Amino acid sequence: MPSQQIPVHVPLVKEPMSLLQSLSAARKNLLSIIPEIAVTQPMVSGRTGKRWHMVMDPASIKRMLLENLDDYPKSIVTKNLLRPAIGDSLFIAEGAHWRWQRRAAAPVFSHRNVMNLAPIMSAAADRSCARIAAASGAMDMADDMVRTTFDVISEVTFSGDGSFDATAVHKSIDAYIAQAGRISLFDMLGFPDWVPRPGRMFSGPAIKQMKRVADAAVEARRARGAQGVPDLLDLLLAGVDPETKRRMNTAELRDNLLTFIVAGHETTALTMAWSLYLCAFDQSVQDRARAEAQSVLNGRAASGEDVANLPYIRMIADEALRLYPPAAMLSRTALKEDTLCGRKIRAGDTVIIPIYALHRNRLLWPEADHFRPERFADKKAIERYAYLPFGDGPRICIGASFALQEVVIILATLLSRFKFTPVKGRDPKPVMIITLRPEGGVWLQAEPV
Ligand code: HEM
Repeated sequence: MPSQQIPVHVPLVKEPMSLLQSLSAARKNLLSIIPEIAVTQPMVSGRTGKRWHMVMDPASIKRMLLENLDDYPKSIVTKNLLRPAIGDSLFIAEGAHWRWQRRAAAPVFSHRNVMNLAPIMSAAADRSCARIAAASGAMDMADDMVRTTFDVISEVTFSGDGSFDATAVHKSIDAYIAQAGRISLFDMLGFPDWVPRPGRMFSGPAIKQMKRVADAAVEARRARGAQGVPDLLDLLLAGVDPETKRRMNTAELRDNLLTFIVAGHETTALTMAWSLYLCAFDQSVQDRARAEAQSVLNGRAASGEDVANLPYIRMIADEALRLYPPAAMLSRTALKEDTLCGRKIRAGDTVIIPIYALHRNRLLWPEADHFRPERFADKKAIERYAYLPFGDGPRICIGASFALQEVVIILATLLSRFKFTPVKGRDPKPVMIITLRPEGGVWLQAEPV
């Protein structure tokens, strides 16, 4: 019997807000500026400084992300926010400069290469289990999942290089995200450019330190060459754009590696943290997941080969990514006049795809706020541009299969060994500061099974 209760969600705005109200609400939680009608309508428009639109209509989203991609570049503000940390890397670049980098980096994430990195994910799952077993009492699983994915991403980017100080880089990234999070609300609301933003002035020591450490690791690897199973840095070093034959120089390599860390580490941790929250929320789902994991794994950690045999665990991850998409809002600037959903878009307008509201839109999803992993049993039944945890079109997340493999390996391993139950009164609150995080942590009691 599926649970009739609804897992934690954000109360959306019922009344229009003034500029100041939006600002103060957004400072606490970017999601709280989404109007409630965004889950019942295909499109909502407004003006807060600049004209903005929120688009939840799959055909219009397809136009933005696929058919008219070049007319909807990532918003200038998104770029200003990220450029100090990750340069003009794959995530930020547009046009020809994006295209050659995407072509050069594509083979890094081929099925074979991602599969080769699976043992690192299995080992990280084992280490997480050891920490859970050693903990007495409840544990913040969100915190442990961040540690686990950082273990993985630092190992697959700068594996085993003595010159790489993982803790220093981790600290720098955290400091940067904490700073950048504070300015993102100015950016989302599309304030005019003359409004001073802390981010413009911010070129902090954290970033310099992060780049220094990464540059040293790239240089060391270039000198040493690949050894054993190629990691992401080896693969990127070997990357060539098949059309222009161009290769990345040290600064480009470093910016892209840091992009992989920034874009791939917290997002993946959040997917697992929310999945575990949901499994503790609905014990019948957890029991079924455990039965599947135990029958496939027989006590060992999940491997890359196991992933195809763990379809229910994957459905839980898919549903967690629907309810709590880590990248909960994508923001674009319209370059040209256009019509979306019958409404006029002017050049310069901010066009937001609020993935959180898209994934809960009543026109697209039955029982939209409920946790129902079974809805992903038949992937073909899901309307493509209605479900976008990884974006879509040519700029779809390059690390999606890497992330999903990691999530399934770690979740299956954990669920096969522990029963997780919620701690009363400590439900997390979904809050978006750059990514959609469980504020207060995901506190669970874990019992060996
Ligand atoms: C569950 C985990 C993840 C989620 C939810 C996620 C989400 C996304 C989304 C929504 C985009 C598109 C952004 C836009 O169109 O504005 C994106 C792009 C990107 N992601 Fe991920 N991501 C995840 C994991 C990863 C991992 C593991 C890596 C690398 C190791 C990665 C690297 C990138 C890069 C480089 C781009 C830019 C691609 C381009 O523009 O060509 N992501 N991601």
